[in-house]
Amino acid sequence: MIGIFDSGIGGLTVVRAIIDQLPGYDIIYFGDTARTPYGNKSSETVVKYALQNTDFLLSKGAKIIVMACNTASSVATESMVKRFDIPIFEVITPAVELSIKTSKKFRIGVIGTRATINSGIYEKKIMKINRKAKVYSAACPLLVPLVEEGWLKKPETAMIVKKYLHYLKVRQIDTLILGCTHYPLLKEVIQRKIGKRVNIIDSSVSVAEKIGSFLKSHAEVDNLLGKNGKCKFFASDITDQFEKTAKATLKRNVCLEHVRM
Ligand code: DGL
Repeated sequence: MIGIFDSGIGGLTVVRAIIDQLPGYDIIYFGDTARTPYGNKSSETVVKYALQNTDFLLSKGAKIIVMACNTASSVATESMVKRFDIPIFEVITPAVELSIKTSKKFRIGVIGTRATINSGIYEKKIMKINRKAKVYSAACPLLVPLVEEGWLKKPETAMIVKKYLHYLKVRQIDTLILGCTHYPLLKEVIQRKIGKRVNIIDSSVSVAEKIGSFLKSHAEVDNLLGKNGKCKFFASDITDQFEKTAKATLKRNVCLEHVRM
């Protein structure tokens, strides 16, 4: 099974991309809804949660782990790789690589949670590949709670998105990385507010591509993964919103099981 976790429903955008690109692979998802959001917590706490979430997914039979959370990816990757001897995928590198590949002016905007933006990880990774790139980042701490609430189409959400994006818009970015897996659910409004000329990079699509090419060249890992199209969903707190968003995102009914963390 492919084990995937996020602080809540954001990682479902990664599940959707994996189902689209790797149809048939068995998936186990954990949304840490009782402890969301991660983006305002200390690195130490997020690392602890990431390790616990992974222990849980491994106990259920996951053979590879996808940290479908930029916040966890930005602060916990090193500890995860040190602790677990299985393939671990994070969502930052694939988005960075795609942004460099597709940007023409190398004026790249990044939006994410406070923890992700404060970690400076996107700047570091982008500058490592292209030192001439200009990277502009904006923390958008209100967006995760709005998505968790299901406020995807509300005018209040559009107003907040506009305010957050203003800083990036005036810097004339040509590429915008959605540095939080919740944000693809707001892609429509984000595109409208940043302008249609800006190319939006959705890390969920790029990480699914990365996993696909990894599995093609690692048959020994691919053979460990079940391919019966089974998807199991667990959350540390059961909310109506989770099931609603999951159904809308994945276009299928989702039966959510509770797990105490
Ligand atoms: N989806 C998580 C991320 O990518 C959300 C973070 C949060 O819980 O604040 O960063």
